[in-house]
Amino acid sequence: MSEYTGITDYYDLLMTQGYYDYEGMAIAVNSFIKDGRKKILELGVGTGLLAEKLKALAPEAEFTGVDITSSMLDIARKRLGEWGKLIEADVYNMDLEETFDIAVSSGGVWVINQRGDRTDLGNHTNEIPQDIKGLTNVAKHLCQEGLLLLSIQGEHKNYQKNLPTGIVYSQEIEKIGENDEIESIEKSYFFKKDGETLAQQTLNLNYIKQWKKEEIMEQAGFTFVSIHESQKFHVYKKQ
Ligand SMILES: C[S@@+](CC[C@H](N)C(=O)[O-])C[C@H]1O[C@@H](n2cnc3c(N)ncnc32)[C@H](O)[C@@H]1O
Repeated sequence: MSEYTGITDYYDLLMTQGYYDYEGMAIAVNSFIKDGRKKILELGVGTGLLAEKLKALAPEAEFTGVDITSSMLDIARKRLGEWGKLIEADVYNMDLEETFDIAVSSGGVWVINQRGDRTDLGNHTNEIPQDIKGLTNVAKHLCQEGLLLLSIQGEHKNYQKNLPTGIVYSQEIEKIGENDEIESIEKSYFFKKDGETLAQQTLNLNYIKQWKKEEIMEQAGFTFVSIHESQKFHVYKKQ
């Protein structure tokens, strides 16, 4: 069972209330599709919310989404109908036997966390040597000069938000460790109604500090290209 299984049923309710700007991200990805990069791989496709927007903007794209959580993929499959390929796999060691023009992670397996002037690399539960292996594996799935797009997020913060049908979402962050390379937090998600907990999940997330992120990306075979003009993604190119 993956970490997201516990909150799958409530994930869309939260995400469609403005948690991420899927339309803005899809427009940014589509700018690369319009340049002829049509084979797209989404790392951590979740319930397919970004993919749905891409399908509307660029139905001609050849889309593949990978996720480790089967309950999230079930929802993605219903959402996308016949469009695209969905594969249950761990991005760190997947072997899809094909290459793509673009790999994109939107709040997915890796993200860029903007923290003041620093842009750290956010990851899910893995340690740095695994990240190097995982990102090297992503590079292996890209064609020559293929691009890796990592979505830009802020820092994880404590907050509470009212959702439709009387459900209250809250998230709580606890710092659990830090050294000069990495800072680790526990992030707990709660969905409650009338004071009763409907679902909850705690994830271990990390911020790999900017200097270390740059080292890791290089070791994995990526060169930083730019921050996309939409301000939605850091763009890396396979070396
Ligand atoms: C925050 S969700 C983002 C989902 C989606 N990209 C979106 O924007 O709504 C993170 C997703 O990454 C998936 N994930 C985490 N680690 C993974 C791994 N190692 N391999 C594949 N998927 C993973 C989780 O199962 C979850 O669906």
